[in-house]
Amino acid sequence: MKVTAVLLAAGQGTRMKSSVPKVLHPLCGKPMLWHVLEALKSAATEKPVVVVGHGSEEVTQYLGDSALTVLQEPQLGTGHAAMQAEAVLKGKTDYVVITYADMPLLRGETFKRLVETQRLNSGPFSLLTVIADDPRGFGRIVRKEDGTVEAIVEEYVATLEQQQIRELNVGAYCFKADWLWEALNRIPKNPKKGEYYLTDIVEIAVRDNLPVQAVVHDDFIETIGINTRVHLSEAEAALRQRINRAHMLNGVSMMNPASTYIDVGVKIGQDTTILPNTYIHGTTEIGAGNVIGPNTILRNTRVGNRCTILASVLEGAVLEDDVDMGPFARLRKGAHLKSHVHMGNFGEVKDSTLGEGVKMGHFSYIGNATIGAHTNIGAGTITANYDGEKKHSTTIGEDVFIGSDTMLVAPLKLGDGARTGAGAVVTKNVPEDTLVVGMPARAIRKVERKQKRK
Ligand code: UD1
Ligand code: CA
Repeated sequence: MKVTAVLLAAGQGTRMKSSVPKVLHPLCGKPMLWHVLEALKSAATEKPVVVVGHGSEEVTQYLGDSALTVLQEPQLGTGHAAMQAEAVLKGKTDYVVITYADMPLLRGETFKRLVETQRLNSGPFSLLTVIADDPRGFGRIVRKEDGTVEAIVEEYVATLEQQQIRELNVGAYCFKADWLWEALNRIPKNPKKGEYYLTDIVEIAVRDNLPVQAVVHDDFIETIGINTRVHLSEAEAALRQRINRAHMLNGVSMMNPASTYIDVGVKIGQDTTILPNTYIHGTTEIGAGNVIGPNTILRNTRVGNRCTILASVLEGAVLEDDVDMGPFARLRKGAHLKSHVHMGNFGEVKDSTLGEGVKMGHFSYIGNATIGAHTNIGAGTITANYDGEKKHSTTIGEDVFIGSDTMLVAPLKLGDGARTGAGAVVTKNVPEDTLVVGMPARAIRKVERKQKRK
């Protein structure tokens, strides 16, 4: 049995007041459109079809090969939008699930229920409804005496009596495909607006004496539709709550979920605690037993286990286990901190690896460098990695002691056990176990390493 989803996404979204197509506005890190497509995966068996129109180039580009697209031009209503899918789907699918791309909170299991309901329905389609006190401009569901659906009445044409109806049209339908294509062509042009409304397809089935079934949903939150930026923020808050709740039920502690902002798709291990005002974005993956925040931003970063990250900003970084950082540390793309690294306040690391147990307590910039295990980076150390044209690399060995305020002028190598005096400007490679001082630093004597490690 083939089930194909058709997503209507051609409307202008005028009420968003935006140059970005409505369906590309993000919620918790992913465009509205992504959320709907993701949910539809649980119900559909085939590649989805997205009807595009306004902003079609941007939307098509975003979709890539994750969906087929068909163009609706001009946009003459939701019924007219659905008709555009016929050209690519006729004869290729048993069921068609049609939904609107501005309903990003609908869950996969809800679409699944809709398809299941339709499979048991002798009639041509089933639709999703919700009972709610606040109608939010949704179409009203008018029922026949036998309980089947008689009509969907849009708010602006509803009688006062119909406006009291609390059962609303969510905007998700599952059709028998053959019937759908034929019935779409019978939808009349709406005399008032000159558009073809998908919702009028109910009356076509009713006229043919075919039963229309409804799945009645009780979670109004899931049916929040987005027409304005106010709705967008409401939907994002609801989605954030859903994401945070799932993490907490998986063993993550949050002191204040309301100020914890986690993108969809982020992974967090058990017994990690997230403190307030923390933002975890993109493809970030966090292990177990960490304490993160408050006031921390992580983007596309991997964190091992038992790390502490206080008031810091990390992007495109990797932390192994037992790393301790912050407050006010910054990791940029390509920063890799091996286990037991300590990085204190006002440090910045970019495209560099800090070996196991490296200590970098205060005010340092490390760029394009590799630092061996158990090396100490003194306060104010800078890798001067950029000569105005190119980036150069610095390689620092194990058990090195870099004195406070050292300038490491790259390209540069410091052997294991080397030491630099405070304020040294190092322009030449330093051999193993050698102390350099001054400006520029010259070798003055051999030094003893305190302890040698394997
Ligand atoms: C629609 C329903 C309404 C339902 C509500 C739930 C109709 C006539 N009304 O109203 O019963 O309660 O959704 O959210 O269907 N679109 C196109 N091409 C068009 C017009 C719209 O692709 O020509 C797309 C839009 O991009 C949008 C979706 O269809 O994603 C719904 O359109 P919208 O104008 O938002 O419909 P509503 O007024 O919300
Ligand atoms: Ca809408």
